[in-house]
Amino acid sequence: MLIFALLLEVIWLLAADGGPHGQDHWPASYPECGSNAQSPIDIQTDSVTFDPELPALQPYGYEQPGTEPLDLHNNGHTVQLALPPTLYLGGLPQKYVAAQLHLHWGQKGFPGGSEHQINSEATAAELHIVHYDSDSYDSLSEAAQMPQGLAVLGILIEVGETKNAAYDHILSHLHKIRHKDQKTSVPPFSVRELLPPQLGQFFRYNGSLTTPPCYQSVVWTVFHRRAQISMEQLEQLQETLFSTEEEPSQLLVQNYRAPQPLNQRTVYASFIQVGSLYTTGEMVSLGVGILFGCLCLLLAVYFIARKIRTPVTSMNHSPFQEEEAGEPEECGLYFSTSCR
Ligand SMILES: *[C@@H]1O[C@H](CO)[C@@H](O)[C@H](O)[C@H]1NC(C)=O
Repeated sequence: MLIFALLLEVIWLLAADGGPHGQDHWPASYPECGSNAQSPIDIQTDSVTFDPELPALQPYGYEQPGTEPLDLHNNGHTVQLALPPTLYLGGLPQKYVAAQLHLHWGQKGFPGGSEHQINSEATAAELHIVHYDSDSYDSLSEAAQMPQGLAVLGILIEVGETKNAAYDHILSHLHKIRHKDQKTSVPPFSVRELLPPQLGQFFRYNGSLTTPPCYQSVVWTVFHRRAQISMEQLEQLQETLFSTEEEPSQLLVQNYRAPQPLNQRTVYASFIQVGSLYTTGEMVSLGVGILFGCLCLLLAVYFIARKIRTPVTSMNHSPFQEEEAGEPEECGLYFSTSCR
């Protein structure tokens, strides 16, 4: 009986926070994980600050990341692709060069998987492209501990109708690195294609690494537009990798952190919220509603105008007096000429 109760307790704990190594326990070993400017966050679009001064974000060198193969690595927490420093960002106060990209995802059959949320909505997965300030620091590990040392691009990934060929440059190699610490190399491909086509709309805030040690060193750029992969591609991501080196194999799933409190921080937006208050469906129904409303109003005005015009034939009576006089409704409305 006692053992059964203990077992239930353990199962409940595991379900509640992912076990003793779950994210609720991170601050005990990594104090910065419990600090007040953590990532990810839930971006509430009606609370962001429009900043017309935010320069456009430019990815340079993304289309052709060299001719050498790129290292792809299962580190037990995510799948990570090493990037050469020939990829860098424009539109930030410093030059930030790329170091690596990696993914976060959920579990097959469960909603969610992205780290950032927009209006409390998570998507199926999220891509992070990690850069560091190469003007000020010599390496990623040095910059990772410094304020604004890193710039990370966050791309929300949702499921669409078609296969995304760019993501296949990563996903089609996962079966070669199923276990933790396995590596392979992949031919270079256009990293630009992993991003949504339009980069003009983004959110910017100061935050942290989303895994221990959770250093608060990241200038975050989260794009409003999403990238799309097919359901098959998502399932490939959810079902191929293990977080363990050998048996017993543990599937590498749900490697996303829950949203953290915004506290005193400001989230800036490069754009004014127009479409984001309403979804496309809501916009369409709103449009139809307004159109229908206008039509009704027009009809009403038309009939009222006709009704008012009718009694004008007898100049000494106001239309209201005419009605009070008890003239038949039909006469006033439709048969004005025959009623004279
Ligand atoms: C991030 O923090 C720095 C230093 O406090 C500040 O100058 C900058 O405006 C902040 N950026 C954002 C996007 O809040």
